[in-house]
Amino acid sequence: MNILAPSILAADFSRLGEQIGQAEAAGARYLHIDVMDGLFVPSISFGMSVIQSIRQCTELFFDVHLMIEKPERYIKEFADCGADLINFHLEATENTADIIREIHTLHKKAGITIKPATPVKEIEPYLDMVDMVLVMTVEPGFGGQELIPECLEKVRELRQILTHRGLGHVDVEVDGGINQKNLRQVLEAGANVIVSGSSVFHNDIDTNVRELLSQMQGC
Ligand code: DX5
Ligand code: ZN
Repeated sequence: MNILAPSILAADFSRLGEQIGQAEAAGARYLHIDVMDGLFVPSISFGMSVIQSIRQCTELFFDVHLMIEKPERYIKEFADCGADLINFHLEATENTADIIREIHTLHKKAGITIKPATPVKEIEPYLDMVDMVLVMTVEPGFGGQELIPECLEKVRELRQILTHRGLGHVDVEVDGGINQKNLRQVLEAGANVIVSGSSVFHNDIDTNVRELLSQMQGC
């Protein structure tokens, strides 16, 4: 199933609840939530208290993308504040398998994320443990960048490996630079969970979500 995950990093934070409500009313079912620590990535975004607040105002599925060093320090906190799925970076930890197990023990879905320079083969040992793989299509850290086309090769490779290994249920998410113009290409590469920040929250949210969803349903 194809899923749109609007990224609140591009929202107007002074109207965050209202804008999330608009995305939900237009048909979005996931919300992508970017947590940045100023170490793993240069920027700092927000943390548990913001997630806890927005948890009160929406039923959307919370896809939390941790861009933080040593995510093992905070898995329980993010589970407790409202995450439904926790994505962490392979590059940020040496305890990948333990983190996946901890997320599952907390009854949340687990996703593993790779940056553009990290080859797919590095996550192969964990594919039968996860619910999702997030393939970054920009360098993590900032919204509004252009998609790096070479990353779509990794999406293709990953989808093929999953199919060959009988792991077709694992979601393949893509994040960064996805818009109404390149969406089809991204879906054709094999991604089924589509993060979109600027292309949802800039200009008219209702129109943006409806257009992206209609393209996704057509595939
Ligand atoms: C980047 C974040 C993305 C970002 C995507 O580090 O992980 O989720 O919000 O924003 P756009 O869609 O504007 O590239
Ligand atoms: Zn993200």
